[in-house]
Order: sequence, then C-alpha cells, then structure tokens
Amino acid sequence: MPNTILVTGGCGFIGSHFLRQILAETDFRIVNLDALTYAGRAENCADFADNANYKFVHGSITDKKLVGGIVAQCDAVVNFAAESHVDNSIAHPEIFVETNVLGTQILLDAARKFELKKFVQISTDEVYGDLPLDSVEKFTEHSELKPSSPYSASKAAADMLCLAAHRTFGQPIVISRCSNNYGTHQLAEKLMPLTISRALRNERIPIYGDGKNVRDWIHVADHAAAIRLILEKGRVGEIYNVGASNEIANLDLVKMLLKILGKSEDLLEFVADRPGHDRRYAIDSNKIQAELNWRPTHTDFAKELVEVVEWHKKILNFKF
Ligand SMILES: NC(=O)c1ccc[n+]([C@@H]2O[C@H](COP(=O)([O-])OP(=O)(O)OC[C@H]3O[C@@H](n4cnc5c(N)ncnc54)[C@H](O)[C@@H]3O)[C@@H](O)[C@H]2O)c1
Repeated sequence: MPNTILVTGGCGFIGSHFLRQILAETDFRIVNLDALTYAGRAENCADFADNANYKFVHGSITDKKLVGGIVAQCDAVVNFAAESHVDNSIAHPEIFVETNVLGTQILLDAARKFELKKFVQISTDEVYGDLPLDSVEKFTEHSELKPSSPYSASKAAADMLCLAAHRTFGQPIVISRCSNNYGTHQLAEKLMPLTISRALRNERIPIYGDGKNVRDWIHVADHAAAIRLILEKGRVGEIYNVGASNEIANLDLVKMLLKILGKSEDLLEFVADRPGHDRRYAIDSNKIQAELNWRPTHTDFAKELVEVVEWHKKILNFKF
C-alpha cells in the first residue's frame, strides 16, 4: 500500500512545486489541505489536479476537526502552510501566530494521536536573524535563533514546538530551513515577481533602503527535491539547512531582471527601509549534502531568471 501524505499549503509557491515533483516521481497518495488565502492559487495545481493520486481539501490547518479527520487517513505530514510575507507580519502579526504557530501545533497533536511516521516542518533561514554585510559567516543548524520579524519569530516558535514534540513525545519530526526561493508560480508581493510584474507594466519598482541587503537564492525545484529527501531519508529530530550558496544584493538582482526585461533602471525608486530589515542571509548546507547526498542542480542563475521572466510574461499575458 503506497504512503498517503498530507501536504499543507500546496496551492502556494513552494508547495505546488513540491506536489508537481512528488506526484510525477512517486506513487504516493497526496492530500493537499490549503485554505486558499490571498496567497493560495488554485491555478498553481491545475496541471496535476486530475492525477488519481491527488486530492484537494479546502480548509485551514487551524481547524482541529478537519485536520484530525484527514490526518487519521495519512502516514506523514509536510507542513508548508503559513503566512509568509514579512511586510504583512509587521502590519498584522496575530494571523502569523494563529497560522504558523497554532496551526503547526494542531497538526502536531493530530500527527501524535494517529502515530504518523514522519512530520516535515518547512521552516526558513530567517529564524537565524541576519549576518553583517561584511562577514563571510554562514548559518549552520547550530546557529542561534534570533528572528527579526513577527514572521520569522512565528516560524522559530513553530520549530521549537516541533523539537519539543520530538523530545517530549518522541514524535518523528524533521525540520528544513531553506534560504530565499525563486521560480515560477510565485505571487507578485515578493521581490522577484513584484519587480517583474511592475517592470512589465512600466511601473516604479520600490527598493527598500540602500538595496544592499543580501539574499541567498535557491531555485524552488532544488528546494522541493531537498524536501523529498528529507521526507524519505531525513533523520528524525534533526534540522537540515537548505541553500545554494548564491548570494546577491537586492539592488543587483533587480538590475539583472531589468536587463533581461529590456527595461530602464529609471524605474527604480528607493523607499524607506523595512523596519528591522535583515541585512544578509547565507546558508551552510553541508549537512544535507553529506547526509542525504542533496545538491542544487539549477545553478545557472542568469539562465533560470530568464525562465522566470518568461513565465510571468505568459501568465500576465504580455504580448511583445
Ligand atoms: N518563499 C520562500 O523563499 C521561503 C523560503 C524558506 C521557507 N519558506 C517557507 O515555505 C513555506 C511555503 O512558502 P511559500 O513561499 O510557498 O508561501 P506562499 O505564501 O506562496 O503559500 C502559502 C500557502 O499556504 C496556504 N495557507 C495559508 N494559511 C493557511 C492555513 N491556515 N491553512 C491551510 N493553508 C494555508 C496559502 O493559501 C498558500 O497556498 C512557508 O512555510 C514558508 O515559511 C519560504
């Protein structure tokens, strides 16, 4: 009997890539529980919605009864569902606590009750806070947790609850902490899709502060492959950092995108910095490389960016 996996937040950016990969490459049965918030796009799952191994349930991870009924039929959970936009967490922190913290605990409780074999918590490198621009240090799994925003604090809290569930109840949890993802199927509020969609419309592109903040970018398909390995082979009670050692300043990235789009840098507009804005992220992913033999495979950043731009042109229906 093949495994049945509950994937939460599968209509979002990363979750939909993970679903596409796992349905194509395994015979696992998948239940996708997604609340379809403003961030969920049913279209992200359109190309595999008819797969016989796939079932969509519209609902929230904070709905105990619904979650209990689904988890009772499953062997494992992969929890992507979250409020994920830092700016929104500054404006409305409560919903981040409700979904990211309470929602994770509700899933953990159900997973314990029905003795699930694995619980993969999709976390973020943002739980480590930031690094100075002039350092060469990278975050390891042992780095201190120093979240800067309500978003990253809520993700750190969820990680703590998962680790406590392992220590106290022996629950088979594993945590992944990944750096910034890029790729197709991402909503326009995040840096890359925002830049591309605004540039295509010849609208101003806001740059926070001096634009020198550095992010460590990984292709979403590489992250999805890492999660597959963590689900199937990750050691329980462990944390795995996932990153592609691809650091670039926000301003340089936006300029690369404008060049690909053939648009002028005059579109750039420097705006007041985000409060608490993290300066630099950098991830050491030696552990997952050594233990699970994972490697990023989408390493030609410039070429991958062209594909992301092409996808946006297609879905925004831009004709040139
Ligand atoms: N985007 C990144 O660069 C990045 C990097 C590292 C980790 N992560 C983590 O990966 C996960 C997915 O991120 P993403 O960028 O795909 O996010 P996203 O915002 O694109 O998708 C989130 C999905 O969760 C769903 N959702 C929200 N609240 C829900 C609830 N209460 N119940 C059920 N579903 C709910 C939304 O409808 C949406 O489909 C998040 O946990 C995030 O913290 C993201």
